[in-house]
Formats: sequence, structure tokens, C-alpha cells
Amino acid sequence: MKVLIVGATGNVGLRLVPALLTHGHNVVAYVRSAKKLELLLPEPVYRQLSVVEGDATDSAAIKRAILDFQCEAVVNSAGVAAVAPWGKSTLPEIFRAVLEGVQEAGAEQKSPLRVWFLGGLGVLQFPGAMSMISDYVPIFLAHRQNIQLLRSLSPNTVDWSMICPSTMTPESSDFSVPTKSSHARLTAGAGTPPLWQDSWLKHIPLVGKPIVAAMNANRYDTTLEQCADFIAADLETRDSQWIGAPVGIIDASK
Ligand SMILES: NC(=O)c1ccc[n+]([C@@H]2O[C@H](COP(=O)([O-])OP(=O)(O)OC[C@H]3O[C@@H](n4cnc5c(N)ncnc54)[C@H](OP(=O)(O)O)[C@@H]3O)[C@@H](O)[C@H]2O)c1
Repeated sequence: MKVLIVGATGNVGLRLVPALLTHGHNVVAYVRSAKKLELLLPEPVYRQLSVVEGDATDSAAIKRAILDFQCEAVVNSAGVAAVAPWGKSTLPEIFRAVLEGVQEAGAEQKSPLRVWFLGGLGVLQFPGAMSMISDYVPIFLAHRQNIQLLRSLSPNTVDWSMICPSTMTPESSDFSVPTKSSHARLTAGAGTPPLWQDSWLKHIPLVGKPIVAAMNANRYDTTLEQCADFIAADLETRDSQWIGAPVGIIDASK
């Protein structure tokens, strides 16, 4: 596929570029500074990219980039959610702009785009409850309004998925192609975290579910490279099972 990646200079973005190339995609990088991207990537990798400079809050420029390069898919890794509920973040503004650009480009092309967004573990449903994990552990809350926005879309306007990782650590700063990883492929689940460990502690009033969520949280730690590979592999098929879902991931080999 031809994939537009918004935020290619970030932790996730820098792993997505080589992962997408490794999986045979054509990559268009949408960044604020082409020079910065060029300095961060190995020269043979940078040479394989088309690069567009622009701001991720500019929905018209994102739409134009999609249409100019005839992109079939978009991955947004731009913007970061603030940790604390009172923290400030530009992520919601970026998210709205990318979504608007994607929707308008899809309308013009008369076919919805395939899009992966970055979310967080907190927007997944607490298994066995009707609430999100972030109802019990209220951090990285920007992702909540983002998933609500996606859920409010009319059907067949955007073929979205949101990957919902816990902490992702780097395996290396080697961004060459093909990618090398000694880590296992991730196991995924739609809506709730896969392989959740339940506990009777959840029945303790008020503190039970936060305790169980905290006990589980670091089981969902993955690497940036594993997540990038997961998205790049999924984009090999247009009929992904993850369309319309927040997606939990775990390294089941750990
Ligand atoms: N890292 C983790 O462990 C983790 C875990 C769970 C979820 N997430 C989520 O994953 C996403 C990516 O995280 P990350 O660690 O890769 O973040 P990051 O390293 O801080 O990268 C953020 C990217 O956003 C770009 N950006 C910010 N504002 C922009 C704007 N106005 N226009 C264009 N580009 C803009 C930055 O570009 P510049 O280089 O130009 O600044 C950079 O490429 C975030 O939504 C985060 O909340 C991350």
C-alpha cells in the first residue's frame, strides 16, 4: 500500500518508517522538518521515502498530501497524550485535523482510507466491566476523547483502528531496512486487553479495579519496534479484522 505517516520523526514514527518499507509498502512521510527526518534516518532509508513538510494540525495540507500521492492508508503517530488529567497536549487538535483530512480525502476519492491511530491501554474496556480502564486509572486521558470521536463517525467514512499500547520501549536506534528484531510478534485483541489476568481483588469497593489494572499494566509493555511491525504487517491486507476497533496488544512470549 501507499502509506502516509504523520509524525515520522517521533519514537513510534521512526520505527514505523523501516517497518512499513520492510513490509513492502511505499511510504510518504509527513513531517514538520524534512531536514530533521533526514538526520535521524540512515541515508538509504531516507532515499526510499517521499517527504512532505507540514503541520499535523493543518487538515487541508494532510488531505492534499493524501490526494497528491494517492495514498491508500494513513498512520498517525504525531502528538503525545499528557500523562496527568490536568496536563496540556496538542494531541486532540492533531487527531481532529488528521481525521478531517482523511475523511475529506476519502470523500473526494470516493473510497474510505485505511487508518491506524495511536491510543493507549486506558481506552480499552476493563474486562468484565462496562467501563474503560482509564475510568479506574485516569491517565493519558486525551486518548478517550479521540476514541469517542472515531466511534461517532458515520459508517464507511474512515476504516480506522486504534492501537492501544501500554509503555513501549526502544529495542535499538537502528532504523535500517529490513528491520531486525529478536522479539516475538504481538498477540492482539479487539476492545479489551488480550490475556488479561483477572483477580478477586476487583470486587473490593473503589480500589479493587484500580489495583487489578495496576497489576496488569506492565504485562502489556511492548517495544516500539513490535508495535510498528504489527501495524505494518496489518496494512498488507485491506480487509483487516481490526477495522473499527481499539486494539489491545501483548507480547505473549514474555
Ligand atoms: N511511547 C510510548 O511508550 C507510548 C505508549 C502508549 C501510547 N503512545 C502514544 O503514541 C503516540 C506517539 O508517541 P511517541 O512516543 O512516538 O511520541 P514522540 O516521540 O513525542 O513523537 C511525537 C511526534 O509528533 C510530531 N508532532 C508533534 N506535533 C506536531 C505537529 N503540530 N505537526 C506535525 N508533527 C507533530 C513530532 O514531530 P517533531 O519531530 O517535529 O516534533 C514527533 O514526530 C502518542 O500519541 C502517544 O501518546 C506512546
